[in-house]
Amino acid sequence: MPVTVVVGMQWGDEAKGKIVDILCEENDLIVRFNGGDNAGHTIKHGDRTFKLHLVPSGVFHPEKTKVIANGVVVNLGTLLKEIKEVESAGFSLKNLVISESSHLIMPWHIALDGIEDRRGGIGTTRKGIGPAYSDKASRVTAIRAADLLLDEKELKAKIEKIGAVKNAVIAALGGERLDVAKAAEDVLKAAKSLRQFIRDTRFLLNGAVSDGKNVLLEAAQGCLLDVDHGTYPYVTSSNMTVAGACSGTGIPPSKIDRVVGVSKAYTTRVGAGPFPTELLDETGEKIRQKGGEFGTTTGRPRRCGWLDLVVLRYTSMLNNPNELALIKLDVLDGMKEIMVCTDYEINGKSTKEFPANIAVLEKAKPIYKTFRGWKQFDWTTCKARDDLPKEMREYISFIEKELKVPIKFVSYGPDRKETMMI
Ligand code: GDP
Ligand code: IMO
Ligand code: MG
Repeated sequence: MPVTVVVGMQWGDEAKGKIVDILCEENDLIVRFNGGDNAGHTIKHGDRTFKLHLVPSGVFHPEKTKVIANGVVVNLGTLLKEIKEVESAGFSLKNLVISESSHLIMPWHIALDGIEDRRGGIGTTRKGIGPAYSDKASRVTAIRAADLLLDEKELKAKIEKIGAVKNAVIAALGGERLDVAKAAEDVLKAAKSLRQFIRDTRFLLNGAVSDGKNVLLEAAQGCLLDVDHGTYPYVTSSNMTVAGACSGTGIPPSKIDRVVGVSKAYTTRVGAGPFPTELLDETGEKIRQKGGEFGTTTGRPRRCGWLDLVVLRYTSMLNNPNELALIKLDVLDGMKEIMVCTDYEINGKSTKEFPANIAVLEKAKPIYKTFRGWKQFDWTTCKARDDLPKEMREYISFIEKELKVPIKFVSYGPDRKETMMI
């Protein structure tokens, strides 16, 4: 399987990091292709846990090449900190590669994200993601990783010129002016450490594919946060569908062989925006506590609700996954009843289509099918699908039938070992 893409099928935090870590075994290059340090991907192996924001989730495999591709926006401070953290835990990152075409998140992006979010109420991670992608589209005020290869004087002048423009914007919006000279100094310092990793990744990745190497593309966020296909404007600013994997790396669609969709056995969302199956009751709180549903990046409580097949049919349409990984089934262990949303009722009519217009989506009332829950049981005694409780098998088979996608992995704990191939 030369090129595999791992995508999040909901609103993020589906445990993409865990599935990427598992799939690393059979891949040579592990690639992040969108988003920035708004992502938080947890990987656990024995007594070691990493919460990665920028470095691809392949750090337990030092021999594999890790690529931060062109679609990513990079906070240099976060990246340096993360490299240090991983290396001081004894995992070499000498095989890290950063695309020349990736864009840098500057202090003004973070300041503007805060100002805009206070006004707009999207509930962003305030990591500067939206403003950095805005500058990518605007072009003249963007700074790319390739700029770190410039002569120091030239780079400093570029940062100071852009910084002066941004300070005027920040001041006009009532924010505090930033120290642009310090921002330039920090970038020049970071450039010294990071230059060695920066190169053209389009030729590196396509060359690897041509040489028969296996490449794993790791999405950040989930498809309902996609800037084109998500619950706009309550989305992030990049494309994390399988199409985004192509534009975010330069690997053409015809080279993608396998798409793995990752979904929780229920649904979560962080930040504002519509969420039809959200549970604002005791059951929602129970799921939050049992599932440890608190943001990996911001620590915010995640909103929790039942599984939504209108969502999953839609994100399956966008990504056409070959297989699914169903995560956190353990969180539902011992529940008397489990509900699954099969359709929405909107203005008195039932529909299976996920509305593009959030004014319509906000009116959607979930139509549920109720499943009998399964009793608490010892997962470690289960080796195959038939060993799982009958009620769980019914739940899994129903999801597969509705989505017309086989569930290949089920996950019952954070550790790599707590996963079953079914
Ligand atoms: P990502 O952003 O998609 O990589 O996911 P996150 O790391 O933000 O969130 C997933 C969380 O669930 C992490 O804390 C994982 O350690 C944890 N996790 C992963 N799989 C399971 C599972 O099957 N059961 C439980 N209880 N926790 C899990
Ligand atoms: P991973 O990769 C969950 C959400 C934020 C907010 C919206 C916009 O760990 O799945 P942004 O800072 O990106 O402009 O915020 O998107 N968001 C995430 N939610 N998981 C993530 O990443 C997220 N990255 C951004 O909470 O609602
Ligand atoms: Mg996460």
